[in-house]
Amino acid sequence: MKAKKTLAGLALVGAIALTTAGCAGGGSTAGGGGDDKVITVGFAQTGSESGWRSANTESMKTAFSEANGFNLVFNAADNKPEAQIAAVRSFINQGVDAIVLAPIVTDGWDDVLKEAKDANIPVILEDRTVSASEDLYASWVGLDFEKEGETAGKWVADNFGKTPTNLVVLEGTTGSSAATDRATGFNDAIKGTDITVLDSQTGNFTRAEGKTVMEGFLQKYGSQINLLFAHNDDMGLGALDAIKAAGLKPGTDIKIVTIDAVKDGMTALADGEFNYIVECNPLLGEKVAEVVKKVVAGESVDKQYIVEDQAFDQEQAKAALPDRKY
Ligand code: AHR
Repeated sequence: MKAKKTLAGLALVGAIALTTAGCAGGGSTAGGGGDDKVITVGFAQTGSESGWRSANTESMKTAFSEANGFNLVFNAADNKPEAQIAAVRSFINQGVDAIVLAPIVTDGWDDVLKEAKDANIPVILEDRTVSASEDLYASWVGLDFEKEGETAGKWVADNFGKTPTNLVVLEGTTGSSAATDRATGFNDAIKGTDITVLDSQTGNFTRAEGKTVMEGFLQKYGSQINLLFAHNDDMGLGALDAIKAAGLKPGTDIKIVTIDAVKDGMTALADGEFNYIVECNPLLGEKVAEVVKKVVAGESVDKQYIVEDQAFDQEQAKAALPDRKY
C-alpha cells in the first residue's frame, strides 16, 4: 500500500477498536482504556540493518516505556520474513493487547493478520506497509516512500538530466514497500531525461552489501559511472569505501544521492562525499504509542499517519548536523 493522500476507513477503525477493547488482555491489565492500566505491546521490528533502524528502535523503546504505561515485548527478525511472521504469531499466542509491526516485506501477511483479528488483537503498522486488506490492521504510521524517491529523482533530473549521465542504483530489500515505492517515485521523476540506468541491484539496506554490490558495478562499468542513487545512507556509505578503493573520489567523480539523513550520511554530505540526501524520519515512536493507546481504548484513529520528510544538499547538511538527533 502506498501512502494515500486522503484519510480513509475511520468507521472501519472504530469498529476494530470497539471489538478489541477489553478482549485482548491475556493476563494483562490493559483493555479498559484507563491511563493507569499497563498495555502489553508486541513489537515486530525488521532487524538492525541500518543506522535508520537503530534510531527507529530507540524511538519505539523510549515511547513504549514502562513510565509511559507499556510493557513492550520486542522482537527483531534479522530481516527474515518467516521469522517476523513467527514473532507476530507468538505475540498472538501470548495474548498481548496490541501488535506493532514494521513489515520487512509487503506480501505474505494475510493469514497471520487474520489470526490476530480473530484473536481480537489490533495490529498497528509502523514504517513500511503490507499488501493485505486494510481491514486487517487498525492504522499505519509511516513515511511517503514514493515521495522520497521522487524528491531524489527530481534533484537528479534538475542537476544531471540535460547531459548524458550514467546511473547505478543500490536498491533496498526486495519486496519491501520502502524499496518498491522509492524506485517508483525516482524512476518517474527521471523519465524523459538524458540519464541512463546502467544497473540496479539490491544491497538489502546494509553497508556491507552496498559495498559488495558497488564493487561489482565498478568492476563492470568502471569510470563510466557518473552517479549513484542508494535507497538508504548505509548502502551509500558502503559504496563510498568501494569507490575510494577503486581510486575514485566520491561526491566528485561519482555523485551520490541517498535517502535517510542519519548522522553518518549527513556527515558524508557535509564533507562533500555525498551530494544530496532525502530524509526518512525514523522518530515514529511517540506517534505510534499515541495511536496504540487510542486503539486499545476503543477510540477512533485515522487509517494512516504520514510523517513529513525534508531534504538536504551539502550546505544544508553542514547547518543541520550540530542539531541532528539521530
Ligand atoms: O523502511 C525504512 C528503511 O529501512 C530505511 O530507509 C532504511 O535505512 C531501513 O533499513
